Formats: sequence, structure tokens, C-alpha cells
Amino acid sequence: MKSAVVVDKPTIEYHHGADLTGIGESCPRLSWKILSAPSGFDQKAYEIKIYRTNNAGESFCRSLRVQSTEQILVPWPDTALTSREKVEIAVRVSDGQTWSSWSDSETAEVGLLSASDWKAKMIVPPFPADRFIHGDVHLIRKCVQLKGSVASARLYTTAHGLFEAEINGIRVGTEILQPGWTSYHHRLRYTTHDVTKLLSGGTENVLGFWLSHGWYKGRFGFLGGRTNIFGDKEGLFSQLEVVYTSGVKEVFSSDETWKFSKSPITFSGIYDGEHYDASKELADWSSSQYDDSTWLSAHVKVFDPSVLIAPDGPPVRCTEIIQPVQITRLKNGRHLVDFGQNFSGRLQVSMKGISGHKVTFRHAEVLQGDTICTRPLRHAQATDSYIFGKKHRNVVWETKFTIHGFRYAEIEGLDGDCVLTDVVAKVYHSDMTRTGYFACSDNDVNRLFDNALWSMRSNFVDIPTDCPQRDERLGWTGDIQVFGPSAAFLYDIRGVIGSWLKDLAAEQNEYGNVPWYVPYVPGAPWPLEQAGNLWGDVATITPWDLFQYYGDTGVLERQYPSAKAWVEKVLVDFCDDSGIVSKGAQLADWLDPLAPPDKPELALTDPALVATAYTLKSLRILSETAGILGNIADEKHYQHLFEVMNNIFITAFFTDEGISKNRTQTAYALAITFGLLSYSQSKVAGNDLASLVRANEGKIATGFAGTPIVLDALSQTGHLDEAFMLLLCKECPSWLYQVSMGATTIWERWDSMLPDGTINLGEMTSFNHYALGSVIKWLYQVIGGIQFTEPGFKRIKFKPQPGGGITKCSTKFDTPYGLTSIKWTYLNNHFETEIVLPVGCTGSIELPDGQVKEVTNGDHSYAVVL
Ligand code: BGC
Repeated sequence: MKSAVVVDKPTIEYHHGADLTGIGESCPRLSWKILSAPSGFDQKAYEIKIYRTNNAGESFCRSLRVQSTEQILVPWPDTALTSREKVEIAVRVSDGQTWSSWSDSETAEVGLLSASDWKAKMIVPPFPADRFIHGDVHLIRKCVQLKGSVASARLYTTAHGLFEAEINGIRVGTEILQPGWTSYHHRLRYTTHDVTKLLSGGTENVLGFWLSHGWYKGRFGFLGGRTNIFGDKEGLFSQLEVVYTSGVKEVFSSDETWKFSKSPITFSGIYDGEHYDASKELADWSSSQYDDSTWLSAHVKVFDPSVLIAPDGPPVRCTEIIQPVQITRLKNGRHLVDFGQNFSGRLQVSMKGISGHKVTFRHAEVLQGDTICTRPLRHAQATDSYIFGKKHRNVVWETKFTIHGFRYAEIEGLDGDCVLTDVVAKVYHSDMTRTGYFACSDNDVNRLFDNALWSMRSNFVDIPTDCPQRDERLGWTGDIQVFGPSAAFLYDIRGVIGSWLKDLAAEQNEYGNVPWYVPYVPGAPWPLEQAGNLWGDVATITPWDLFQYYGDTGVLERQYPSAKAWVEKVLVDFCDDSGIVSKGAQLADWLDPLAPPDKPELALTDPALVATAYTLKSLRILSETAGILGNIADEKHYQHLFEVMNNIFITAFFTDEGISKNRTQTAYALAITFGLLSYSQSKVAGNDLASLVRANEGKIATGFAGTPIVLDALSQTGHLDEAFMLLLCKECPSWLYQVSMGATTIWERWDSMLPDGTINLGEMTSFNHYALGSVIKWLYQVIGGIQFTEPGFKRIKFKPQPGGGITKCSTKFDTPYGLTSIKWTYLNNHFETEIVLPVGCTGSIELPDGQVKEVTNGDHSYAVVL
């Protein structure tokens, strides 16, 4: 008989699909979802079956039973895996009486775990250092003779710079901008590809690579930036491992016998774009017939492979193709392409032209009149170009090592014999799994949600960046700190953020401070010696958020030294004698709409209030983290400091009753949502906050510090009407002002575009910054009504709160335990709702009439008259 309990195939750490080849964990933790089970099912035990095939090709199977109710990130139950080992894993569960059927199995293959696994050398172009030209891209070639037919083959590669590999003329993989951006001198990722099918046994095969400067040595940073940030010579490090059907193994690794040539990409830069000259193409250069006798043999540079790591998260891939909504010929003869959506990615053009003809592509987020407005890009050129060669009249072309943030492309050179036959936009970002969905009856709110979603997609390009278009695109700490909880409601961010936090800890350790952006790019005006709260507090808050959303205590354990070092730094360096955090470089409520456009840090809320509130939040998190990790001494110590500083905070910034001496939306939002006020003070504070919102007619008055939490502060203190007033206001500044001005992403400033349609003249005028989109969390939790009261959604609280004239809402979220959802309608005082609680979670629902009911797993519906 078929079991009523159905278990999904297990998840191995955070890896999915193609990214399971070459994992870096020797003891990966396992999780599973119970897709269906009778109501009230309670897992009491699990059994994991592991088929292992070791490096010597021997296979064996183990089954391991564990008495446990856990199903998220359970410890690896067997001996540690070794490099190159393959595993196939299935799971079943029991309620103590009967066992479920076995799940389908998931497979994974371990990458190269130790430095001694690498035979490759880091090869560099064979020129003296002064002949390394900024932006040039090289081809690298190696012909290998395979001795017999191939049973399996893996290509392991990394670079100082960016690479793309091909074998016998066929591209390897679909990811771009590899090996991504990490703090290269601490952690350099390598990629693993199964290339068995690309090789031909018993004959010559060619390994080909494109090598570009990328983040490693390309121009990066503000005010013109710098080159050679991580080193002055780009390099490639690659190893092909072949297992013949005879069982014999052979390794081909990069060394002095590999050869370099110039490529037809004459310039490539992340900010500036890419130039391609087809007259410089070397036909069939990565096939065996090609004669490479004029190519130069590689030089080798010193490289320590102990920094090599397998990726924690997904690579950057094309996730969508967008067709233009309009193509217009401008008076100056250029063509303007509008994709109707702002995003990060690049063009793919199909064109026809004659030799020597040049076509240029410029990118921008907005128009001014009918031409593209590139001023907000500052020093980033964002310009690509293509020169036709003799060989091909018809080409399909896309750049390789650059990326742009844009909605509009302006094309110059479509004249004479040159014809554009097709143009599409390819959207690129870290290929994360989508987890959250939200839609309600108010289309403006839906557009706001979509705008935040698009800003997230545009800014999760290997690392969490501030913006995708201008001369920054840096891993700004404050931006992800405030947007993290919203991001976690949209996509599975564990891999991307987990990896980035490791870089943060490594750089903090090296520099003695949390850099403003990670990886750190030196350059004024952001010196390392200075730091500020909200940005630096990412070290405590973001690991805590990951723990809250995914139930992963591993991330807390790993990041604890970093979190503690940050808090200690603040206490020692930024606290004054009165116990207030008044020192440091405090940007505080950055981009408060009332700050002068050229001085976004001059917000109305006292920077010391913001910094002290954030320090209190970090102290509390640190104490709770220490408690979870069993470090009782630290738990008590930081709890004590929290209590002492909390009293100082109240005395300095609030009256005994709970009125803020600063009286700003941000001051109240921080004190209420960070739990710094007593119950009665919080009530008074909530009332005053609501009156400030009413007095401001619903217009927003918060920057980075207040925006993510101001709606929570209102709804938590019983002011749902004012929360909806703020959310739904369309006057400038407000969330829906941006929507009403046609925004398709979240803007950096509330008024990046002014009410008359002109572009704000301030320096910080991006149209794609997710920080002010941190309202997403509130949409899910309050309108949608999905909240969690135990880490990892182990306990879910459904609390839909209709308001603002919204008549229906549907919210879905893929929790670590499985999909939870809630749909509701509210019409003529009738409220009806349907919810789904995944197996493994407990839950309750609080209906709008105040009734609270306990919920078991499965589907439930409720109706009340209000
Ligand atoms: C970035 C921000 C960042 C800020 C720091 C800006 O240039 O784009 O998003 O957090 O600097 O103040």
C-alpha cells in the first residue's frame, strides 16, 4: 500500500540543480520537506540512505537511522566525504509507528577540498608588467591528446579576473562573470563542470578560455576609481580531470605549455562596457585544426591554492529574456530601444553589416526628453560597441564580461548597409530559487512589490550590491542589512548572503573593522578606520536574519566572532563617556527626504539616537546568539550591557512617558520595533508617531534607518490606518509616488525623478536601489498575514490585517518545511480566508475579529463577519 506520508528529495546544504556538481562541504547538512501527511503527523525519526562512490570508483551504501524530530539542516550522518566523491541520498521518516516510502534521491559530487588536489599553475599573459593594458581580453588555448574513450571528465577552473571556457568550440556552462567576486586574497571560488560530453576520446581536444580583468584588476570604485585593486596581472588556473573507460585517470592542468593570444574583445570593463572588433576574430581558435604557432607560451605567477573554495551559492545566469516594448528612430539618426523595465543584464543583438562598420550601444535607466540620461551613471561609460569583420555579415552578438543596469538602449550606427534584425535584453543575476509571492487587489501596491523584486534581482549579482548601473555596484553593508528580511521573503538568499558574510568576516579580521562595502575597494571617501552603525551592524543583524528565516544555527556559529568584534569595536571606539554612541562616521537615517539633496547624511533624526538604537539591537542579538551557542558568560554579559545602555538611551532621547525629544518618524520607529520602550512608553510613542504621520498627510519622512520599520512600528502599536496611509500615499515623497511616476524598480532617493519629470540633480540618483523597498516584509507579514514566531518558520502565525480598501490578497512562501500560503477576501464586512500550513510546522491564526485558533498541518478555511 502506498504510504500517506510523502517526503520530497532531500536538499544538500543550500545547493540546487547544476550547482550540486562540485560542492565544498565534506559533511553537508541535509534537509527535507514532508510534502503530505495525515493531519497531526509528527516526525519522530528519520532514516537516510547514502550511496557513495569514492575516488577509486568503489560504490557502497549506508543507511543511518536517527531518533529526531528535526528535518532542517540535520548533521551529516556518515563519515566525511572526500574530494570528487559522488553521493546519492534518499530519506524517509517515521512517526514512531510506520515508515514513509523513501523519497526520490538527490545527487551531489564533491569538488576539490584540499590545496593538494590542485596540480594547476596560475598562468598569466606573457608580457612584462608594464605591458598589461587596462581592459584587454585574452584567449588561452591548450590542445590535449586523450588516450582512450572517456568515462567522465571534470573541468575545475578559476581566475584572477573573469573567464569563460570552451571545449572544442563549445561553450562550457551557462553562467557568466565567473568566478564571481569574493575577497580574492582570502577566498577565491572555482567552478566545476561535467564536460564528459564535450570531449572526444582517443583524439586531440582543445581547451579554450577567454580571460578578462573583471573585478580583480579592472577599474572600480568612485571618483574615477582604481585599477589593479587585487593584483596587476590577470591569470587563469584550470585543471581538466579525465577518467577513461579503462579506469585510468589523467589530469591536464594549466602551465607554461598553455598559450595566449589577443582576442577580438579589445576592451572590457564592468562599469564601462565592452568593445568587440570582429576583424580580429581567430576562426576556430578552440578547435584542434587551428594553428597556434604564433601564440605565446604562458608565464606563471605565484599562487597559493589554499584560498580556493567551492561556491556557496548559485552563479550569475540569464534568468529571463525581455522583448523591447518600443524602438524609435531619433532625429539624430540613433535608435532608442525601450524594454519597459529597468533591470541588470545586457543586450543580445542580431545585425547585418559590412566589414569595418561600427555600431555603438549606450545604456541608461531613464530618459531626459527623448534621449537617454547618463548623468546618474557618473564615471561609468556603460557603452558597448561592435565592429563588423570580413567573415560574417550576419551576427548574433552579446558582450561577455560586462553588465549594465538599464531600461533604455541607444544604438548608433544603424545606417547604410547595417540593419538590426533583432534585439532583446537578457536579464542576469545570481540564479537563486524564488520563494515568495504576493498579490493583492491594489495594483499600485502590486507594482511596488514588483519594483522591489526587480531591484533585488538587479542587485544580487554575485554579491548584494547597492545599485547595478553607476560607478559603484559595491557590496554596501547598510543596504543589505536593511533589505535582508525583505529579500528573504522573495528568494532563497542563503548561498549568496552566506558567502558574502564569510568575505565580510575575513576582511573585518584583516582590517580590524567592518568595511563600508565588502569586498573592500580602497578609495576616498570611505576610509577603513571609520565605520558607522546600521552599515557595520550587518555583522550582527544579517546572520541573525538568516537564522530567523532559515533556522540555520551554523551561520550564527560561523559569524559569531565577527558579530562580537563589531559590537566590541562600537563599545570601545564610538561610545562616549555618557554611554551614548555619538562617535564614528554615522550616516544614520541616510537619504531622509528632508535632508538637502547634496548632503543625504543630514537627516532630521539625531545620528546618535540611530547609532545607539542600532548598538542596542546588536547587543541583544549578540546576547541571544551567545545563548543559542551555549556561551552563557557572553549571553549574560551582553544582556547586562543592553539593559544599562537601554536606560541611558531612554533618558537621553525620550521622556519618561515615551515621547521622543527628536519627534521624527525614524526615532519612534527605531525605539518601538527594536523593543527599547516599556509597554506604556511604546503606546505613547505609537500614538505620537501616528499623529506625525497624519500631520504629514501620509508622506514618508524616513531614510535608510526608518523606512524598513516605520510601518511595523505603526501596526505593532495599533495604528493600522496610519500604516496604510503611509503605504498608499501617492504624494512625493512616498512609495507610491515612485509608482505613479512610472518606476519599474525602487529608486535610491524618494524623488530620484522630481514631480516635473526631471532627474534629481543630487549625486545619489540611482533608479535601482533596493534599500527603500524594504517594505516587502510588511506586505507579507501584515497585509498577507504570514509571520513566524520560531526560527525557520517552525511555528507560523497567520494574522491577515485588511485595510486601505484592499479587498483581497494572496501570499505564498516556500518555508524550509514547505509551501505555506494564505488567501483572503474582504467584501461587505465578510472576511474569508484559506490557509495552508506545511507538515513539520505548528501554527495559529488570528482572525481580524480577534479570534485566535490553533492550526494543524494541511488546508483550512475560515469566515467571519466584521
Ligand atoms: C550607496 C548607498 C550606500 C551609501 C553609503 C552610496 O553611494 O549607493 O546605497 O549605502 O553610499 O552612504
